[in-house]
Amino acid sequence: MVDSDLLSQDGHGSANSLRPPDEAVVSIIRTAEELKEALHIRQRVFVEGLGVPLDEEIDAYDGGGDPQKVAQDVVHVLAHMNGKAVGTGRLLINPPIRQLPKAQRISVLDEAQGKGVGRRIMLSLQEQAWARGFRGVILDAQLKAIPFYEKLGYKVKGDVFLDAGIEHKKMELVFGGGASLNNE
Ligand SMILES: CC(C)(COP(=O)(O)OP(=O)(O)OC[C@H]1O[C@@H](n2cnc3c(N)ncnc32)[C@H](O)[C@@H]1OP(=O)(O)O)[C@@H](O)C(=O)NCCC(=O)NCCS
Repeated sequence: MVDSDLLSQDGHGSANSLRPPDEAVVSIIRTAEELKEALHIRQRVFVEGLGVPLDEEIDAYDGGGDPQKVAQDVVHVLAHMNGKAVGTGRLLINPPIRQLPKAQRISVLDEAQGKGVGRRIMLSLQEQAWARGFRGVILDAQLKAIPFYEKLGYKVKGDVFLDAGIEHKKMELVFGGGASLNNE
């Protein structure tokens, strides 16, 4: 019997062809074309959906549309489902904040939400952090998204603050449940 979950870890086309149709495939963005798809998703989810100003949504970590320009500092990922780009996210790795990389811009198109895409995006970013020797990941969570991150093991750190006019709380995941690195 072929275990499609095991095969799906290697990222090769042969494995992807064995995936169940509704399972998201997350890959690292390497081309300007892929980043364009990611920025389009962010525009729909954050700018049109949540009212974030476009000039706050897109920043220097987006490399002016060229992922290679910022590859030392940030890992962008793109999630596809049934061949369509439906979600994205990025991990700031340089400089780390209090020794940890920061997950940002986690977004899934409305029509693809609730199908495990966001979870796979986070697991992919965490894998990137782990592979670089980091001990965990931090992020700023919109209050509505806190239960989503809690299911992945993140813990709230600190009080509510406003970012782009939206209420957030800082959250942190320490791999293996180790001690927090954030003493704020
Ligand atoms: C938050 C977001 C990324 C989640 O992505 P998603 O693909 O819908 O989430 P998943 O389907 O992977 O959910 C994984 C688990 O979290 C739960 N979950 C997801 N969003 C949730 C929410 N808002 N409240 C409670 N639980 C939630 C799911 O029910 C699922 O639980 P299960 O494992 O018990 O079945 C997505 O809803 C989104 O893009 N929202 C708008 C943008 C946003 O707020 N981004 C976060 C910025 S901090």
